[in-house]
Formats: sequence, C-alpha cells, structure tokens
Amino acid sequence: MKERLLALKEEALQELAQVANQQQLNDLRIKYLGKKGPLTEILRGMGALSAEERPVIGQVANEVRGAIEEVIEAKQAEYTAAETEARLSAETIDVTLPGRPAARGAVHPLNKVIQEIEDIFIGMGYTVAEGPEVEQDYYNFEALNLPKNHPARDMQDSFYITEEILMRTQTSPVQVRTMEKMNGRAPVKIICPGKVYRRDDDDATHSHMFTQIEGLVIDRNIRMSDLKGTLLQFVQELFGSGTQIRLRPSFFPFTEPSVEVDVTCAMCGGSGCRVCKQTGWLEILGAGMVHPNVLEKGGYDPQEFTGFAFGMGVERVAMLKYDIEDIRHFYTNDLRFLKQFVHL
Ligand code: PHE
Repeated sequence: MKERLLALKEEALQELAQVANQQQLNDLRIKYLGKKGPLTEILRGMGALSAEERPVIGQVANEVRGAIEEVIEAKQAEYTAAETEARLSAETIDVTLPGRPAARGAVHPLNKVIQEIEDIFIGMGYTVAEGPEVEQDYYNFEALNLPKNHPARDMQDSFYITEEILMRTQTSPVQVRTMEKMNGRAPVKIICPGKVYRRDDDDATHSHMFTQIEGLVIDRNIRMSDLKGTLLQFVQELFGSGTQIRLRPSFFPFTEPSVEVDVTCAMCGGSGCRVCKQTGWLEILGAGMVHPNVLEKGGYDPQEFTGFAFGMGVERVAMLKYDIEDIRHFYTNDLRFLKQFVHL
C-alpha cells in the first residue's frame, strides 16, 4: 500500500509538471484530490489495515496528499498572478493621451453688441426696460401719435394677429409703457433692446425680424442739444473717439423735430469707401424730441416736461462694427460664422 501511495505521488507530480493552463490544473486537482480520486479511495480502505500498519500508512498518505497539494497551490498562485497581471495591463488608462476638447458656447454677436450698448448707457445713468413682442395697436401706433389710417403706418408693414394686436414693428411702444409705469415721475432715462417684426422680404439687408434699441429721456428742460451730446458720446464710445455725427431733418410721427443720425464711416474714417458708398457717412439712428401728443398720452404735461427719443437697428450697428455683409448670418446659426466672435 505504501508503494501504491508513492507511485501515485510520482504520477501526480509528473502530470502536474506538464500542466499548461488553469483548466488542466483544475482537472488534476479533481483527479488526485477529489472525492472519487485514488487518494480518497486508499484512505477509505484504511479500516482494513492492522493497528500497526494504520498509523504508518496514514502518515505516508498525508505526506503524499500534502506534496500534491503544495504543487497545486504553487501552480494556482502562478495562474492567479498571471491573470491579475493580464487584467491590469488590459485595463490600463494611458494618461498621456490628449483629452477630447469640450465645445464651448459663446455669446451671440448681436447680444454682444446689445451688452456693449447697454454698458455705455448704463454708464450715463440709464436703466434697461423691456416690453412685449406681441403688442397692442394702442402702444405700437396709437399712443405714438399714429392714429388708425394715418399714412405713416405704411412706413412699417405689420404682422397683425387681430385688429388690435400685432407683432411690434418697433421698440417705441416701450416708451409709452415706461411713461405709464413712471406715472408722471421724472426723470425718465431708459434704453430698451428687443426684437421687432416687419413684413419685409428677407435679403442681405432686410429681415422680417430684427433687433432695435430704443432710448427715452424725459425731464424738465431737456433740449435738442442734450440729444446731440448724448448720441455723440455714445457713438464715440462704441466706434472710437474720432467718430463724428451728423443730424439730418427727417420725420417720425412720435418726435418733433425728427432727425436721422449719421456717423462717420468706421471703415474708412470718413474718406469714402464701399461700405459708406463713398459718402463717408453711415445712417444708424432715428431720433427726435418727443412729440407733445406722445408726452400727453403718456401722462406728462408737455408744458412742463420735454424729452428726446432715439431708435437704432442693432444688426446694422453690428454689421458696420464687424464688417458683416449679410444680415441673415445673424439668424442661421452657422458655426463657421458664430465662431469668429468667440474671442471678441
Ligand atoms: N421707431 C423708429 C423706427 O423704428 C425709430 C425712432 C425711435 C425714431 C425713436 C425716433 C425716435 O424707425
């Protein structure tokens, strides 16, 4: 029996020496140490041995079992280490790879110009007001001295929603809303940026929706020279200190007198170029002294109060400032266009 045990050990160790993978090792573990293996069988047969033989054989059997186990454990440790190693190297993160850049948004060029203009007027003590884009005929026209059937309504072809409600054609209705809110108090000093809508066919210089900034000042003793000085200060901050303005007589129903305001061309400095069509001047604003009828409708006594108002197209200002040739670029959200303003 002792010989059988020793032969078994030899055989097992030889086979274990040939083991090539985890599966074979598992098979051998079952074959030699499993419940149906030869070692178990021998140990079970120990009852038939004599009292002298039993401890001797028992000891040999334990030795054989120990020797086989030792080799299996050593092999198992090798396989476990190799497997861990393989997993670790497969899972390695290469921290030296360049990162994927996250796309960053940026302020739209129109909003940038609005912010810049707001900053200039806030610096002069103005506050920013807002009004609805869907507006009542009363605020958009009537209270601005444009009664129904007034021919000047044709200057601004409108999108009507009902007889009395329309998409505002200008930011001027915010003048009236502000006066109502102020309830006769003075001074009023506001600017109002916002979208306006007109029934125009879209092309390089026209859009059915565009952006205006309105200004309104009301107080005692406000004069035309206040308007002129304010606008000169404004354009010099916006376009540069060398910029000049020129006022030309014009007509708006809600101002009297009314003017159109030109600035010296920012592209050529006034010498004449393609942008200013060789005139040296660019029209950017409509303005004037608030009409007495408008003051009265807004709750201000025209005998006591005077004021000025102005309105400008933000797209036009942005197009001049950044030499943009087509107004539609502002609305089509082409990233190739928008990306050019990220760092401005
Ligand atoms: N609302 C006028 C327009 O859209 C501009 C303007 C505003 C003119 C204020 C005078 C005073 O054409």
